[in-house]
Amino acid sequence: MRLGSGTFAAGCVVIEVLGVALFLRGFFPAPVFSGTERQAESPAPEPSAGASSNWTELPPPLFSKVVIMLIDALRDDFVFGSKGVKFMPYTTYLVEKGSSLSFVAEAKPPTVTMPRIKALLTGSLPGFIDVVRNLNSPTLLEDNVITRAKAAGKRIIFYGDETWVKLFPKHFVEYDGTTSFFVSDYTEVDNNVTRHLDKVLKRQDWDVLILHYLGLDHIGHISGPSSPLIGPKLSEMDSILMKIHTSLLSEERGALLPSLLALCGDHGMSEAGGHGASSMEEVNTALVLISSAFERKPGDVRHPTHVQQTDLAATLSVGLGLPIPKSNTGSLLFRVVEGRPVREQLRLLHLNTVQLSKLLQENVPSYKKGPRPAPARRPAGAEQQG
Ligand SMILES: *[C@@H]1O[C@H](CO)[C@@H](O)[C@H](O)[C@H]1NC(C)=O
Ligand SMILES: *[C@@H]1O[C@H](CO)[C@@H](O)[C@H](O)[C@H]1NC(C)=O
Ligand SMILES: [Zn+2]
Repeated sequence: MRLGSGTFAAGCVVIEVLGVALFLRGFFPAPVFSGTERQAESPAPEPSAGASSNWTELPPPLFSKVVIMLIDALRDDFVFGSKGVKFMPYTTYLVEKGSSLSFVAEAKPPTVTMPRIKALLTGSLPGFIDVVRNLNSPTLLEDNVITRAKAAGKRIIFYGDETWVKLFPKHFVEYDGTTSFFVSDYTEVDNNVTRHLDKVLKRQDWDVLILHYLGLDHIGHISGPSSPLIGPKLSEMDSILMKIHTSLLSEERGALLPSLLALCGDHGMSEAGGHGASSMEEVNTALVLISSAFERKPGDVRHPTHVQQTDLAATLSVGLGLPIPKSNTGSLLFRVVEGRPVREQLRLLHLNTVQLSKLLQENVPSYKKGPRPAPARRPAGAEQQG
């Protein structure tokens, strides 16, 4: 029996519709968690092993104040390589001899600013649609550290790339967004951030301060990573880091908890000066966590640990005493809590694990709840053969 041409055409249409639907499903993946539902859910209790346990609260925060200094396009070697040694002496000193932890944080493509900010704060990997939305960033609805921090009453101040203000329109008690529209400007765009520092560092009325410097990225776009402009820009960033660190240390004397200064990049910079793709130069960013809570470990600089950029979300959550975002795929940077009592370390790992396994349960239908089946018994007589 021959198919009529009408049936054939109808079949083609159905297949085409299915194909388009499949493509759209992949291109615009459904958000794992839309909105902030079940935000108030209580944390998983500590599992009891032998002795009874009633630890049902989140562990207390590790840091009083947190400053995030994000330098756009801060490739790993700008800090840990020869340029860092030459142009960032204070940072190099902290990395080599100070109380700090250094990492090479791997960003996933697309290595573009907005999806990377989201990855840093949600711990998840946004779809490719974010590249399209990058020019028109809407409010971030997915569970994230900033929303959690605000809900917990933390006062957050932001200065820098206005992308943040679009993502978090109601979250900052104070902000000043700089525009990245004029890529030829690498001076004013940073001065507009730095001009607030002297005042804000003296104030006591904030808990989290976020700075996003765009100048280095703009220099990359103008003249690439070997440009003579890179050195002076790194020096400028180094002295800003020194100013912040010195101020945090001097305030710490009266405080109960130490503070945390996180230096990071959103993505790297290709040899041509751009970014967006997945070359080593574009995905490897520097991440340095500085706090008197960490032990001094000399000689650390030559071996920064490789981690995922998404690991910062869980780490910041733990640092601020907040629940880990629901769609987080990262793991707590364990070295941050190494100085804590063992029971607390276990508790924090447990919370991260519970969150990750919930995410798996909700997204992988075949993922089974409950204990794994016992491994198969060795056949009798196996020992004799071995
Ligand atoms: C249970 O909670 C009480 C009050 O917070 C505390 O004193 C006690 O040590 C806790 N017990 C255990 C086993 O954690
Ligand atoms: C810097 O601030 C000035 C005054 O507030 C503003 O007019 C200018 O557009 C800002 N520059 C950038 C690059 O955001
Ligand atoms: Zn960027």
